[in-house]
Amino acid sequence: MADHPSVLLTCSGQRVDIVRAFRDALARRGEGGRVIVSDLDPLSPSLVSADMVVQLPAVDDPGYGAAVAEVVSREGVGAVLPLTDLDPVVLATAAPLVAAAGGTVFLPAPEVAAACQDKWLCHEALQAAGLPSPPTWPVDGTDKGALPYPMMIKPRIGFAGRWIHRCDDRGELDFFLARTPVASVLQQALPGEEFSIDCLGSLDGRAIGAIPRAMYQSKGGEQIKGETLDDPQLVDLAAAVIERLGLMGPCTIQCFRQGDRILGVTDINTRFGGGFPLPLAAGGDYPFLILAMAAGEDVAPQLGTHRAGVVMTRFLSEHVLVRDGDRLRSMDGREEAVTGGI
Ligand SMILES: Nc1ncnc2c1ncn2[C@@H]1O[C@H](COP(=O)(O)OP(=O)(O)O)[C@@H](O)[C@H]1O
Ligand SMILES: [Mg+2]
Repeated sequence: MADHPSVLLTCSGQRVDIVRAFRDALARRGEGGRVIVSDLDPLSPSLVSADMVVQLPAVDDPGYGAAVAEVVSREGVGAVLPLTDLDPVVLATAAPLVAAAGGTVFLPAPEVAAACQDKWLCHEALQAAGLPSPPTWPVDGTDKGALPYPMMIKPRIGFAGRWIHRCDDRGELDFFLARTPVASVLQQALPGEEFSIDCLGSLDGRAIGAIPRAMYQSKGGEQIKGETLDDPQLVDLAAAVIERLGLMGPCTIQCFRQGDRILGVTDINTRFGGGFPLPLAAGGDYPFLILAMAAGEDVAPQLGTHRAGVVMTRFLSEHVLVRDGDRLRSMDGREEAVTGGI
């Protein structure tokens, strides 16, 4: 909407790359608008790179959705996107409130967002949709002696690889099960190679983009080294997952493949993937397409049009800030520091 050109990126954390990409996309659209971010940590690096910072309650505060809608209305926000796994379900639930305020939440229906966060529900949803999911069992009521080892213990609601353990036999499974503090599922450890596909679904659940990448190195859930692939089988798999599950907005689908056999979809995140710069560099201009969709424009599917052989190798970067009264100011002058109150 012309009177809602801005973008709100919630729980923006370290995702400076995404904030910058939306600033660039807004500049190219040339309709004004700002990148507005929220994060409870006043030292989150993304706050320094944004045009504006808003204070929102904690995501588990019952007023979170209403506070988001208030920002949407007050600041003329057209698109709302979560950048971490903390608030997709809350935001998806608040989509009607946000719509009434003039904005669009780029997430699927709340039950779909919830199924993507919960590895047991995700397994059930994939199976019900006729999509490949690794053999998966609940912890309770499963005969641990009869499982096909090696097995993985995975938290039902997990992220960044936390509380995931590979178990080569019953003894290891019992050891980790006795120690994990979170509700878990048991999943067959898959052979083969793991891939990630960075995707974009339209607001009516069509697959607009699907860019597969090889995962050469990850640390704490962040992709460090990777390469985009020309891989129609993975593009087709991702398109089927998006369209059968009803995924909307940016999402990342992970799977294992051995030879030419897809063994299972192991993880779906309803947000930009940790390897965000790679699909962007390969031609997946998802921020620009999201702005177009928020403005009510139809966007054409771009499946298979990305550039393959784009390689990313990452390193840490930083903002150096100086105190200026009760605010912090950027020292390098590249960006206006807008963070304050530390
Ligand atoms: N079934 C599996 N077989 C083998 N490795 C797995 C399996 N599931 C997960 N993993 C490994 O654990 C990592 C994290 O698992 P994932 O399901 O993506 O959880 P998270 O939500 O924490 O990202 C994966 O990147 C992969 O390396
Ligand atoms: Mg994952």
